[in-house]
Amino acid sequence: MIPERLRQELEGRVASAVTPREAAVDVMKELQRHYGWLSDEALQEAAGLTGLSALQVEELATFYELIYRRPVGRTVLHVCDSVSCWSLGGETLLKRLERVLGVEAGATTADNAITLLPCSCLGNCGDAPAIMIGERLYGRVTPELATEILKNII
Ligand code: FES
Repeated sequence: MIPERLRQELEGRVASAVTPREAAVDVMKELQRHYGWLSDEALQEAAGLTGLSALQVEELATFYELIYRRPVGRTVLHVCDSVSCWSLGGETLLKRLERVLGVEAGATTADNAITLLPCSCLGNCGDAPAIMIGERLYGRVTPELATEILKNII
């Protein structure tokens, strides 16, 4: 159940958007921030707030990789697996992250701290390979640098 203050804030955002669809991703992100992920119930709430159907919201949710339709850890580590990053060592980087975290891509560490998710282009191709931890983007990430970064957040 959405806290009243958040509900009012989101209703305000929807009201000020040109179309409810325009506000839908923003609403989903805020609900995800509140719940930790976008459950079926949260998706229904997003539909209720925007006036879109649950199917329309689901279509948007599955399009955006930063909307999580399954539970994730407290922090999500995205590893770009698109062509620029892949060609500059992204695969080796992902293997290192799997080894350091002790999980395979797509999984969450046993302490629920980090979920490791491959993703499409993060828009940082000029500094490939790229990763994103939470909302912070890192570029030119070598396996060694990734290990150092993880030491500071684990
Ligand atoms: S291909 Fe990795 S950031 Fe664009």
